[in-house]
Amino acid sequence: MKCSKCGDKAVINMRQHKLALCSEDYLEWLPGQVKRFIEKYRMFRQSDRVLVAVSGGKDSLSLWDILWRLGYTADGLYIGLGIDGGIGYSDESRRLTEAFAAERSLHLHILSVPQEYGETIPEMAQRTHRGRGKPCSVCGLSKRHIMNRLAREGGYDVLVTGHNLDDEAATLFGNTLNWIPGHLSRQWPVLEADLPGLVRKAKPLCRIYEREMAAYALLRGIEYIYDECPYAEGSKSIYYKELLNQMEADRPGAKLSFYVSFLEAKEKGLFAPQADPQMVHLHACPSCGQATTAPGECAFCRMVLKVEKDRQ
Ligand code: AMP
Ligand code: FES
Ligand code: ZN
Repeated sequence: MKCSKCGDKAVINMRQHKLALCSEDYLEWLPGQVKRFIEKYRMFRQSDRVLVAVSGGKDSLSLWDILWRLGYTADGLYIGLGIDGGIGYSDESRRLTEAFAAERSLHLHILSVPQEYGETIPEMAQRTHRGRGKPCSVCGLSKRHIMNRLAREGGYDVLVTGHNLDDEAATLFGNTLNWIPGHLSRQWPVLEADLPGLVRKAKPLCRIYEREMAAYALLRGIEYIYDECPYAEGSKSIYYKELLNQMEADRPGAKLSFYVSFLEAKEKGLFAPQADPQMVHLHACPSCGQATTAPGECAFCRMVLKVEKDRQ
C-alpha cells in the first residue's frame, strides 16, 4: 500500500477516510486534523491558556504533544488516584507522565488524591459504599471536581481531555439506548463555562479514532501506559465500544458517521436544551463554589465530608 500523498510506503490505511499515509505524512496530517476541529467547534484560541488533563495513556499524552507542536500554551494536570490493581497502575502512569513532561520541558501540575484527601479512590469508594463495590463512580466524580478546581485556581481559559471518537461514540450509544435527554442535550465537543464555578471544557480528539491515536503515539515514540485501569473490565463503555467496532469492521466509517451525524442533527436543532426542571435547583456549592443541583453541598464535597467523619 502506498502513501496517498507522496507514494512512499504507507504505514497506516484509514479505510474510513479512504486515505493511506506514510509515517512522515501521518505525523503531519493528524495534528492538522486536530487543529481543524479545535477551530471548527471554537474550542479555544491560539492565545488561550490551556490545561490538559493527562492520565499517562496514549490519548491524553498524544494530545498534549500535538497541542505543544501546534504552538498552544498548554500545561498538564495529572491526578494520582492511588489505584494499584497489582500492576502499580497509578505509580506507573505518573512516572510516564512526568517523563513525558520533562523531555519536552512542559509544566505539569500533580495532585495526589491520597495526599490531599487522606485516602485512595478505592478506599473512598469502600467507605462511602458508592458504585456497588467498584470505584469508578467515585473516581469519575473526583476527577471531574479536581480537574475543574485546578483549572479555575490556575486561571486557565479551558480544560481539555483526551476523549477520542471511540469514547464519544460509546457515550452517545449509551445515551441513546437509554434516551437520556439531559446527557444528549449537553454532549458536544465543547462545554461553555455557563454555570457557577465551572470552567470551559473541550475534547479536541472527539473526531479522531482511537486507532489513529494509537498510531500517532507509536510513530512519535511516546511511551504511555498500555494497561487499562484494572477496574475498567466488564464496564458498559467497553461493551458499547466492542459493538461499535463490529459495525465499523463491516462498514468502515460507521462510528464516525454515527457521531458526526448526531452533531449535525444537533446543529439543526435536535435535542435543543429545554427547560430542565432540575435546573431550578441549580446553585453554587457553599463549600467549593461549583454548580450543583443537589440540596446543599455538591456530591463531591458531601463525599469528602463523609470520608473525614468516618475516619475519625
Ligand atoms: P477516562 O475517564 O479514563 O476514559 O479518561 C478520559 C480523559 O480524562 C483522559 O483522556 C484524560 O484527559 C483525563 N484523565 C483520566 N484520568 C486522569 C488522571 N488520572 N489525571 C488527569 N487526567 C485524567
Ligand atoms: Fe478511575 Fe478506573 S476507577 S480510572
Ligand atoms: Zn462542593
